[in-house]
Amino acid sequence: MKQLIKIKEVIGGSLGNSSLIKLRMTGLRSTAEEKLKEIIVRPIKIKKSVRLQFTIRYQTNDITKNYKKEEALELLDERMQNDFYFLSVVTLDKVYQLDLKKDRITSSKNQNNKPPSLSHNKEKVTLLSAKSTFFHKLGITSKAGHLLKGKEAKFRQINKFVEILKPHLPIAIKNKTYKVVDMGCGKGYLTFALYDYLTNTLKHQVEMKGVDQREELMNSCNLISQESNYKGLSFEQGKINAHSGQLDILIALHACDTATDDVLIKGILSEAQLIVCSPCCHKQVRKSMKMPTSLSGISNYGILLERQAEIVTDSIRTLILNHYGYKTKIVEFISGEHTPKNLLIIAEKKYPISVDNKYLNSIRELKSTFGVKEHYIEGILNNE
Ligand SMILES: C[S@@+](CC[C@H](N)C(=O)[O-])C[C@H]1O[C@@H](n2cnc3c(N)ncnc32)[C@H](O)[C@@H]1O
Repeated sequence: MKQLIKIKEVIGGSLGNSSLIKLRMTGLRSTAEEKLKEIIVRPIKIKKSVRLQFTIRYQTNDITKNYKKEEALELLDERMQNDFYFLSVVTLDKVYQLDLKKDRITSSKNQNNKPPSLSHNKEKVTLLSAKSTFFHKLGITSKAGHLLKGKEAKFRQINKFVEILKPHLPIAIKNKTYKVVDMGCGKGYLTFALYDYLTNTLKHQVEMKGVDQREELMNSCNLISQESNYKGLSFEQGKINAHSGQLDILIALHACDTATDDVLIKGILSEAQLIVCSPCCHKQVRKSMKMPTSLSGISNYGILLERQAEIVTDSIRTLILNHYGYKTKIVEFISGEHTPKNLLIIAEKKYPISVDNKYLNSIRELKSTFGVKEHYIEGILNNE
């Protein structure tokens, strides 16, 4: 492991003279963490300090965390000893390759020596243009399309949302009008963003609706839609569970408690092609959940019980979706630094409803383990 020590000195030095561009850990060991793919590290500036941002890439999701230099080097050491054989270190003038199988470092000249970007928001072309009218109307940009102070994170989140959805969105089909609904759309940030991306970038014909119980928000969203000349985009005051109609794409972010289940039910029953929701609080299961004796240690802590209820609730939700023929994925939507409510359930209708009971049996086992009598979503689906 001599070479690992040496490469850490190279990294330390390149951080010292601000020449570090990127690190990449690859070549999984047999002892590697399950479903891990690779780790990419790059320096970023948060306020006035430099941190190392680790993007831990798994087969189904990425997790991003920022560390101070010393913590980062410790973590890199640990990851290289347990998970990976190869590490590439890209600096302004050189590219180093560490091969722990051979305990060898090779280096070559960096032909593409652009200075490192320390921007927290990766310097890249965003999917949505800050110049789009709706960003200005929603108070995120100036009239000229410049981001307003304090709105950078919101702009980033909105773009990140569309970026995550991009690989799951259906392709445009001639003469097909996609029915899209955002349930519990609030101020409509994501509704406008998805509408803009679907129509202006992907060239889909869409009939899109934002639904929320708050009338004043729906009125102001309708005004923005009209002023932006967004044909086919309208907003409606109403309750999620009262909404009816055919759906192709359904999104719902941070709709409280069982409102997320109402959304899933609407999507499942209308066989929506794509359902995307970001659960908010999880009161229904939390109230009835009784921890099994073997996990009694967890019941000493309210916050852990709450987390456990979230895990049980979202697991039941994905199992229900699986049963109804949806391929599901859970990803982190926004960095946990901003909000702990950062999971996104993405469900694509791929299969017919399951004929065996494997998903329902898993739900039964989960419920019996955690003393949950019935999950809200099951009750409704059973009555349909
Ligand atoms: C936390 S906000 C999220 C807004 C938006 N989805 C976003 O992520 O920016 C939740 C919104 O859901 C709406 N909402 C919650 N339960 C609802 C229900 N049962 N029917 C309609 N709207 C609901 C609230 O009025 C609120 O505007």
